[in-house]
Amino acid sequence: MAALPHPLHVDLERARYLVSPAGRAALAAIPLDAGRDDPNRLVSTLRRLHPPARASALAEQATLRARAAGRFGRDYGLLLTAPGLEMMTHPLVAERRARRLARTGMPVADLTCGLGGDLAACAAHGTEVAGVEIDPPTALLAKANVPAASIVTGDAARPPLRLDGLALILDPARRTAARRTFDPDAFSPSWETCLDLLREAPTGVLKAPPGLDRERVPPWTEMEAVQLGTGMREVTLWAGAGATAGLRRAVLLPAGAELTSAAPEIPERPVPVGRYVFDPESCVTRAGLVRHLGHRLGARLLDSQVAYLTGSLPAFDPLAATFEVLEVVPFSVRRLKDFLASRPWRPHEIRRRAFPVEPDELRRLLGRLTGDPVTLLCTTVGGNRVVMIVRRLSPGPGAPGA
Ligand SMILES: C[S@@+](CC[C@H](N)C(=O)[O-])C[C@H]1O[C@@H](n2cnc3c(N)ncnc32)[C@H](O)[C@@H]1O
Repeated sequence: MAALPHPLHVDLERARYLVSPAGRAALAAIPLDAGRDDPNRLVSTLRRLHPPARASALAEQATLRARAAGRFGRDYGLLLTAPGLEMMTHPLVAERRARRLARTGMPVADLTCGLGGDLAACAAHGTEVAGVEIDPPTALLAKANVPAASIVTGDAARPPLRLDGLALILDPARRTAARRTFDPDAFSPSWETCLDLLREAPTGVLKAPPGLDRERVPPWTEMEAVQLGTGMREVTLWAGAGATAGLRRAVLLPAGAELTSAAPEIPERPVPVGRYVFDPESCVTRAGLVRHLGHRLGARLLDSQVAYLTGSLPAFDPLAATFEVLEVVPFSVRRLKDFLASRPWRPHEIRRRAFPVEPDELRRLLGRLTGDPVTLLCTTVGGNRVVMIVRRLSPGPGAPGA
């Protein structure tokens, strides 16, 4: 995607124009495809029809709208800012959250509503909605995006509305791009403020980054690890009515497959590799539910420290990829290469768990091979590096070409 033209910042004046009837009409006249054009060329075209500041606001909207349609699979017709779109909850994730909140029967207050991604999903469920947003231009756009919501500009840490009887959504902004290290001070409002608000609410949900450490999950919350397609989207903490303290849940969207820590689990003790191997989806490992999934699949662990499961019967579950084992070889590049060439087998997909070599690096080391496509599952079993040469039986979200 080409860079957007400057100035990028959607200030209050720009937001006022975009939500005005004139701005709405001008934007409606720009086809969605135009937003995929070179932004500078688009501004030049629009300048023939509009004053420079408006042309630049419209060009930015058109570009962001096309970007959002690419990311979300369709155009939701929202007014956007670049950071607001970056932070917006994916509509399929927001829809599930909204459905769960609707079951509480309570009106919802989103205390960090941004451009209104979560609010729009709640409103679509017929839930009464209010939003709080600290940034005035963003609040103005949110009101246009979710006309049914009452939106207040203010600070969630000092909520400008009475919260009693309301279900809360808290989706704090992250001030830094740091994804791996969790710094509570990098959140706005701060992580502690969010937890305090959640604890006080009759019911509510706090959205956190997918990498949130399990130690950070307070025991009075229910934790969900939410995956969409192949990507982990978020860890969410639920509290109050409708939430079960201490429960962990893996959620895979759009399939809607779920597993919770209330399910039975298999013992930790590993077994030798059987005829089938199962590779759990990320939401399962993030929620710490590999052994629970093992029970559901009729499978056992290969190694107590590694998430691969194995069994003598095939099982098909959206929460795991299923493979039939063809061979298991101790790992050395030379031996693996000779072995594959002798069959002949061509690694179509390479996965790893507890294994030091990156799949791309291993592919490079193996060089060009021809033959039937197979999957390599590279791992460590009982301290020894092994490669399981397997055939994929389930399509699954991570299947090559899926
Ligand atoms: C991650 S975004 C929310 C996105 C939203 N869930 C959606 O789907 O569109 C967080 C928003 O919180 C706002 N924010 C940051 N600190 C805030 C505070 N103290 N009070 C209210 N809003 C705040 C930011 O301006 C940003 O728009």
